[in-house]
Amino acid sequence: MTDATANSPTTEPSHVRYWALIPCAGSGSRAGSDGPKQYQSLAGRPMVLHTLAAFAAVARLSGLLVVLAPDDAFFTSLNSAYPVARCGGATRADSVRNGLALLLQQGAQRHDWVLVHDAARCLITPAQIDSLIDACSTDAVGGLLAHRLPDTLKAEVNGRAAATVDRSDKWLAQTPQMFRIGMLLDALWRAGAGVTDEASAIEALGAQPLLVAGSAQNFKVTYPEDFALAEAVLQARARTNK
Ligand code: CTP
Ligand code: MG
Repeated sequence: MTDATANSPTTEPSHVRYWALIPCAGSGSRAGSDGPKQYQSLAGRPMVLHTLAAFAAVARLSGLLVVLAPDDAFFTSLNSAYPVARCGGATRADSVRNGLALLLQQGAQRHDWVLVHDAARCLITPAQIDSLIDACSTDAVGGLLAHRLPDTLKAEVNGRAAATVDRSDKWLAQTPQMFRIGMLLDALWRAGAGVTDEASAIEALGAQPLLVAGSAQNFKVTYPEDFALAEAVLQARARTNK
């Protein structure tokens, strides 16, 4: 898909459905937590339940699937009603690929949309999910929430800033990332297990995913200091909603 028309708008068929796929099978090696980061308690409940609550509040979604590691015991112990699949793989791309294949087996169609979202990106809001769907549902490719790079960008050589990189066209990729299930599955098979997001697999096909402005608050809990920041945002939201 390399010609210019590949990214032009389409008319959305009325029978197309929207699904959410939540990869939740990582170990959180950079987070330094005791056990997977997505299960650490934040504002009174495991991080992943904040993530899932945001998706549960989006009426347009036909269904949601949480991808767990095969040996995950924690999620089951929560006794939540969210549908799960124990098909997590060695990398995030493997987990997503396995989850997509299962969605198709369970009745989703290749032309349906899927919104893939990191379990560890627990500050996503229903409004942001809706804004991604609004922006992408008539797009030929699909797209992702992303955040314009706020800081000056440096290229490093041996621990020193060797150059300043033009930031004007740089965005931080976030999730959800929304693509047609069939196109995404094919793209992930081609891209292999190493890609760290869906958009890069789609880009490798020659298509250009739409960048939809997200928010700095939609960061992925990755490093030890991120837990306190996520907790503070969740607590502040809970106070405002009272
Ligand atoms: N993930 C997954 N399967 C994997 C690896 C990651 O489902 N094999 C999920 C994580 O649970 C997380 C999301 O993908 O919700 C984003 O990945 P990342 O932030 O990299 O999480 P981890 O891989 O768990 O963390 P780290 O890279 O620090 O080990
Ligand atoms: Mg990882």
